[in-house]
Amino acid sequence: MHGPRRKMKVAGTIMTVNIFLFIVLEVSRSGGQGKGGDSKLHVPSKRFWARLAPSTGFWNREQQKLDLLHNPVVTNTSAGVTSGGVLPFDLLPDWLNDTLGLEACEPDPRVAVQLKDYNQLPQRFKDFLSYLRCRSYPMVVDQPHICQDGPFLLLAIKSLMPHFDRRQAIRESWGRAGLLANRTVATVFLLGNATAGDHFPDLSAMLQYESAQHRDLLQWDYRDTFFNLTVKEVLFQHWVDTSCPQVSFIFKGDDDVFVNTPRILDFLKGLPPAKARDLFIGDVITHAGPHRDKRVKYYIPETMFVGMYPPYAGGGGYLYSGDLARRLHAVSHQVALYPIDDVYTGMCLRKLGLAPEKHKGFRTFDVEEKFRGNPCTYKGLMLVHPRTPQDMIKIWGWLNDPKLKCQ
Ligand SMILES: *[C@@H]1O[C@H](CO)[C@@H](O)[C@H](O)[C@H]1NC(C)=O
Ligand SMILES: *[C@@H]1O[C@H](CO)[C@@H](O)[C@H](O)[C@H]1NC(C)=O
Ligand SMILES: *[C@@H]1O[C@H](CO)[C@@H](O)[C@H](O)[C@H]1NC(C)=O
Ligand SMILES: *[C@@H]1O[C@H](CO)[C@@H](O)[C@H](O)[C@H]1NC(C)=O
Ligand SMILES: *[C@@H]1O[C@H](CO)[C@@H](O)[C@H](O)[C@H]1NC(C)=O
Repeated sequence: MHGPRRKMKVAGTIMTVNIFLFIVLEVSRSGGQGKGGDSKLHVPSKRFWARLAPSTGFWNREQQKLDLLHNPVVTNTSAGVTSGGVLPFDLLPDWLNDTLGLEACEPDPRVAVQLKDYNQLPQRFKDFLSYLRCRSYPMVVDQPHICQDGPFLLLAIKSLMPHFDRRQAIRESWGRAGLLANRTVATVFLLGNATAGDHFPDLSAMLQYESAQHRDLLQWDYRDTFFNLTVKEVLFQHWVDTSCPQVSFIFKGDDDVFVNTPRILDFLKGLPPAKARDLFIGDVITHAGPHRDKRVKYYIPETMFVGMYPPYAGGGGYLYSGDLARRLHAVSHQVALYPIDDVYTGMCLRKLGLAPEKHKGFRTFDVEEKFRGNPCTYKGLMLVHPRTPQDMIKIWGWLNDPKLKCQ
């Protein structure tokens, strides 16, 4: 018998023994609680769990590996198997074994070999998959002062380097930092790098000026593309953990939305503490799966991902607690990066045993056209998408007009 196969068999035997012991212990523990003294044991005679078999999706196989490496039953059983709670690589089944580090930042050579339609894939998939494991990029602009006063609400806005006007309109309207309704609000814009490789003009001098002027930009050095929005998400999670641990609530969203910040503060004020701790609300999408039409922006090939999506809040904007932010960051290391950032956050929530909650104040698909010009429409809403910089300033003016009367 070959070495690797034997090791697999050993691991399999250990697992079998442990699962058996677990059942026996569980059954005997609950034995005394049975109704009417019916304590007959039903021990299944056949194997009742599925043997771990390789999934057909590349992403799914990455996830299977993470699941195995973080499974406490597998990693924390017999003393011979564990080393600090992590399964040694040489105990993984052959199809999960590779030499690349779990969070490595060099291109992954397996991708071209393991996806049979690799050559037909659009370039963005090749780029995404070969850096699937990379989660850390250098931070080039930081604002360590932002969370000094432990803000009540942090507004984190996903932006792109060239969107100067959107950021300025947000600063002048719903994203104004400071005290609002007796609560501290802080605002940061999340940026990657608009690189020459993606044909962006050199905007670095203008960005430097903006950064010095407003001190609200966070920037990391990676290509700011649609598929790298998940990288932006995990980098931001890490930043919250290290630079903003005292924040009570976070709104994270796009730079083309209008947010009714006073309405959000009002909602948060009335929240019972138990509800506040696990808060995650937005425009929730359920029973969705990957698009298989190549022309759609959200297209995902079958060789990359199979299965359905967990419930997730549309990335236009959602609101969650600082407490949950820290748990999301911790669990994110157990979830393989997925190229659609809001789906990825839904996957992390599911890993925590939670689901986002739908709130009808989040209108990521806008309100009916006939209501858009009516100031009172926005009174009760938390978010509307999409809105231009000029719309943002106009609507903010409406909401702050003392003469505005709505029923
Ligand atoms: C996994 O890969 C490592 C490094 O290439 C090798 O030493 C080990 O034997 C492999 N294990 C299995 C089970 O193939
Ligand atoms: C692993 O087992 C040890 C001792 O049995 C325990 O203290 C530890 O919490 C366990 N770790 C996990 C991840 O279950
Ligand atoms: C403002 O908030 C603080 C705590 O954040 C509270 O102690 C104070 O009473 C509030 N003031 C008003 C006028 O609501
Ligand atoms: C961003 O991209 C530009 C243009 O490709 C490059 O010159 C620069 O070094 C990159 N990094 C940062 C932090 O701007
Ligand atoms: C994500 O960013 C990294 C680092 O800049 C880059 O190598 C990779 O190509 C990017 N991925 C996509 C899908 O743009």
